[in-house]
Amino acid sequence: MNPRINPSILAADFVNMQAELARIASADFAHVDVMDNHFVPNLTFGPQMVERIQATSPIPLDVHLMITDPDRWAPGYAELGAASVTFHLEAAADPVSLARRLRGIGARAGVAIKPGTAGEALYDILDEFDQILVMTVEPGFGGQGFMPETMPKLRALREQARRRGSDVWLQVDGGISFDTIAQAAEAGADTFVAGSAVYGADDVEAAVTGLRDRARAASLEG
Ligand code: DX5
Ligand code: ZN
Repeated sequence: MNPRINPSILAADFVNMQAELARIASADFAHVDVMDNHFVPNLTFGPQMVERIQATSPIPLDVHLMITDPDRWAPGYAELGAASVTFHLEAAADPVSLARRLRGIGARAGVAIKPGTAGEALYDILDEFDQILVMTVEPGFGGQGFMPETMPKLRALREQARRRGSDVWLQVDGGISFDTIAQAAEAGADTFVAGSAVYGADDVEAAVTGLRDRARAASLEG
């Protein structure tokens, strides 16, 4: 497994975004957290800002929509060129149709589940998605502690994907650090979002490499 490391720009300096994006050029995707102060109690930015990030980023965008009514808003992020668009299962009226629309525009389609949401509802529709995001904190804020109680759900999703011959990516987001990434890799994650662990490091590039190496080692052991 070649683990993907997606730094979350939620932990970056918003008024120096161009320089902050340049610092993560060796990562796989820039993780972009869109929050609407409705689905989650925090507010970041919308399509206008993401369009500028898309134009500026040296690496493709992994957009994580923590918003109400993604059926209406998510396709716009695919249209502006985001490589990957992930919406929340809890917020979508018709997740399968929405995923098909995202793929039709040319984006990878992702679906996210909060810590309290079961994974079973996704088993029979795994093929509709390119990525499943298992939240390892309650969505809304960076810098929270990793919730190990989400690992059995991740492990079960990995097992379902294996059984069904699915190549869906399994992503984790929240509290991922050098200390926690091994647990998630061992449970079956292959794509890792890290905000504070990357942007809080003295050497951002070394943090990306260190996280990737740690995840690779743990997935081989697992
Ligand atoms: C939280 C966001 C995360 C956040 C992760 O709701 O979805 O992407 O930026 O930040 P850390 O890695 O600091 O937990
Ligand atoms: Zn996120």
